[in-house]
Parts: sequence; C-alpha cells; structure tokens
Amino acid sequence: MNTATHLKRLRVHRALMTLLVLTVGVTNGAWGQSTPAPSDTALIALGQQLFQDPRLSADGTIRCASCHRPDKAYADGRRVAVGVYGRASTRNTPSLASIGRSGDTSFFWDGRRPTLEQAVLDPFINPVEMGLRDDRVLLSKLTADAAYFTAFAKRFPGTTTPITLIHVAAALSAYIRSLDQRTSAYDRYRSQHDLSTLSAQAQQGLIIFSGKGECAQCHQPNGSPVALTDHAYHRTGVGLGAVEQNLPALTQDVIERSLQGTDIGNRVATHADESQLGRFNVTRNPADIGMFRTPSLRGVALTAPYMHDGSVPTLDEAIDREVYYRSLQAGRPLNLTVREKQELRAFLEAL
Ligand code: HEC
Ligand code: HEC
Repeated sequence: MNTATHLKRLRVHRALMTLLVLTVGVTNGAWGQSTPAPSDTALIALGQQLFQDPRLSADGTIRCASCHRPDKAYADGRRVAVGVYGRASTRNTPSLASIGRSGDTSFFWDGRRPTLEQAVLDPFINPVEMGLRDDRVLLSKLTADAAYFTAFAKRFPGTTTPITLIHVAAALSAYIRSLDQRTSAYDRYRSQHDLSTLSAQAQQGLIIFSGKGECAQCHQPNGSPVALTDHAYHRTGVGLGAVEQNLPALTQDVIERSLQGTDIGNRVATHADESQLGRFNVTRNPADIGMFRTPSLRGVALTAPYMHDGSVPTLDEAIDREVYYRSLQAGRPLNLTVREKQELRAFLEAL
C-alpha cells in the first residue's frame, strides 16, 4: 500500500471511530454516558492509569500528566508545551481543572472538538505531544499489556475486545471530569452567599470584574456550576500582529487543505503562523481569523504563562493586557488604577 492510500485509510478509520464515540456516547448508557456517574470508580481509576502512563508515547517518556500537572491546575507552567523527543508545540497547555463543571461543548483553543471523548484521543497521535504513528499503535500497546487487558475486561465485561478507542476515551474522560474536587474561596462565597469568604481586596476585585472591568461579559462568574467562560470565541489581539502581513497566503493555504479534527490539531501544533489564525482553522470563515475560545479562569493563579501561545508570562501582565485590549475593542478606555488591578488579581486568585 502506498503512503497516500495508507493515510487515507487511516483517516477513514479515525472518522469512523469518531462517529462511534459520538453515537455510542449518546445512546449506550452502560458505559458511554457523556457524563459518567461519579461513582464509576473503576472507570476513573482506569483513566488515571492511562493519564499517568509514559509507555503510551512514542519515546516512552511523555504522559498526559507531563503537561497536565496537578500542582499547576493541570497546565504545565511552560510557555508552549514540550512533548516527545523534546519537540515544542505552538500552543500553551490549557488547564483541565474546569472541565468537570464547565459544561463545555468545544475543546482546544480553537474549539475543533465538540466532545471530551474525542479530545482525549488526539494527544496520543499529535506529533509534538505523545507522537504515536496512529491509533492502532495505541491499541496494540494496551492490548499487549496483561494488566490493562485484565482491567479493561473487568470494567467492560462480556465484550470480546475490551480494549477499544471508545473505552479508552470513556476512561480518560471520566478521569478528567473527576479532577477538580477543590472548593475555592469563590465557590464558598457562592454556596454560602457570604462575602466574608473573600478577602476585602478580592471583594473589591469581584466588583470590578463584574462592573467597571467588564471581564464578566466573557468570563461569566455566574451559573451553577460556575464556568467562568461564555463558551464563545473572541479576537484577542494576541499573536496576530506577527502574521498579519502574510494573511492572504496563509488563509488560502488553510482553505485549500480543509483539514478536520485531529488533522487540524497536528497541523497547528507544528505551524506557528497557522496556529495564530485560531478558530478560522476550524470554520474557514474570515470573520473567525484570530478568534480563540474564552478560557475558564478557574485556578488561573496557577497556570502561568497565559494565552493560547503562552506569550504573556505573569498574571499581572495578563490583567494589564486584557484591560488594555478589551478597552481598545470596546472603543473606550477602562482606566483602571494600579490598586484596582491589584484587586482584580486578588479576585482571580480566589478562583
Ligand atoms: C506535550 C504536552 C501535552 C501532552 C503530553 C498532553 N497534552 Fe493535552 N494539551 C496540550 C496542549 C498544548 C493543548 C492545547 C492544544 C490546542 O488547543 O491546540 C492540550 C489540550 C488538551 C485538552 C483540551 C482542553 C480544553 O479545555 O480545551 C484535553 C482534554 C487534553 N489536552 C487532554 C490530554 C490527554 C488525555 C492527554 C494524554 C492522552 C494529553 N492531553 C496529553 C498539551 C499536552
Ligand atoms: C470579549 C471577551 C473577553 C473579555 C471582556 C475579557 N476576556 Fe479575558 N480572555 C478572553 C479570551 C478569548 C482569552 C484567550 C485569549 C488568547 O488566548 O489569545 C482570554 C484570556 C484571559 C486570561 C488568560 C487565561 C489563560 O488561561 O491563559 C486572563 C487572566 C483573562 N483573560 C482575564 C481577563 C480579565 C481580568 C478581564 C477583564 C479586565 C477579561 N479577561 C476580559 C476573553 C475575554
């Protein structure tokens, strides 16, 4: 089989698996509920094992937890992610801390995946993350391991092939949804309706966040549970300047290739300029050039550096940047004082 045919077959194979994940995820209550019961400890434990296992990467050194670290709210503290063979991505690792409660229906900075079950399989074959050649390598690694075989067979009894992509996706998703057990100062304030759970500075910060600062427009601090995002895309002013000159050629290339899902992910992780086009890579609508998903700010004090390309090193600079750019967009200066920005930071630290 020549390479082109091989690649085409792989793509078809993956598209079919995607479809299966989607349909079974919705219809098969036995294992595939998109939000498994929290009591499904066997599934969560299996997911945790997969999340921690470096043998599932091309060079045997990288696991999900290399980049999604518990001590950093499941981000990694690097400007951009670094995966197998020391290869650097174009993108900053997002926190996974809010996924269990945000009710997101899009994943990755450009929202190219509509379900968590799809999103968790992509890193295995991303060339700058886990770097496996294809899904089959993943499945054969797992199937060859007696401990995994037993664990999957126990959790998915009565199936002739207990280790499938669907089951791997279900386990990883269940684990990720279970990650954030923390109660933040802001959670306490919301559940007890008691402002004193926040420091005086953070209380002022909340007032600015929801009022004068206009942050709450996009990082919505309401709802139950609090998602701190509007689940929408916005132009950010971050990173686009560098590619502006070259936009006609860049966008034309993207339109001609018309990639989807995993393939978009692999492409943007390895092409810095195209990565800056953001949502446009998914929709190919010129209005979406440079648009990125509003990140949840849960645990944000732990996830520096910031923004989709990690170009903003500290929380203070991220606040400065957002205050400046959002006022530019709104066409009126926000004029926050140094003190007000410190109060905003105190509030962000309570998330
Ligand atoms: C080399 C570092 C690295 C490794 C290893 C890695 N990730 Fe990620 N992860 C990232 C980066 C970078 C992104 C953002 C990519 C983008 O938006 O294009 C991301 C995004 C995600 C997202 C989407 C989060 C959101 O809110 O949009 C999920 C879910 C995720 N990773 C799960 C995993 C799982 C599961 C594994 C292991 C199978 C894994 N990651 C391995 C760096 C990594
Ligand atoms: C119009 C919508 C919108 C408004 C208003 C807004 N943000 Fe954002 N915010 C975003 C988007 C979109 C990003 C991601 C930008 C990127 O990665 O390029 C972001 C990123 C951030 C980040 C970095 C998060 C991370 O994980 O990298 C912080 C911190 C932040 N915003 C704080 C604020 C504060 C504070 C305000 C109010 C002064 C504010 N934002 C107002 C949409 C908004």
